[in-house]
Amino acid sequence: MIRMPTPFTPERMQHLKWALMGLTISWTLAALLACSSPPTNGQPKLYEQLGGPSGIEVVVDRTLDRMTSDPRTKRSFKGIKMPYLKKSVAAYVCQIADGPCNYEGETMAHAHAQSDITASEYDLMVSALREELDRAGVSEGAKNELLRRLAPTRRDIVKAP
Ligand code: HEM
Repeated sequence: MIRMPTPFTPERMQHLKWALMGLTISWTLAALLACSSPPTNGQPKLYEQLGGPSGIEVVVDRTLDRMTSDPRTKRSFKGIKMPYLKKSVAAYVCQIADGPCNYEGETMAHAHAQSDITASEYDLMVSALREELDRAGVSEGAKNELLRRLAPTRRDIVKAP
């Protein structure tokens, strides 16, 4: 009887096993790398530069306290539940700063639709925020980046001259 040479010698099987194991490990590593966060070139994300979610809460808290006590801006906050509003604004800021926060409130246009907010009220909020970011020790770069990201809200929020 003629015996055909088999390609599956024990030695070849061993090689095949190692090759498969190597492939499995590389695929797993590639999948893990693909799922991890995108590279930030070693730069901390904006929300981290703002002090993280808790640092942002402090800045928003102080900014809104100023808005509710300043005679030039307080009228809009009559009857508003401030602890809830503070949490919501902090989540919004944290989210647009790439933070791990989930803002579930209204769009800016919708949230401010009934308030007839003037350009000068809006500008006072931005300067209060700017001062509170300085007070919290946030860098110029991070502060300006946050204000740049907030700038498009102006056209949705300001409804009165
Ligand atoms: C950078 C500017 C501003 C941002 C990012 C901002 C952000 C927000 C957010 C996230 C909410 C919550 C919406 C929700 O939970 O559904 C909100 C609500 C509110 N904002 Fe602003 N806001 C800004 C400017 C202003 C200004 C200038 C005023 C008034 C002077 C103001 C007055 C209010 C009031 C009264 C509410 C509550 C509305 C309600 O519940 O009926 N906001 N804002």
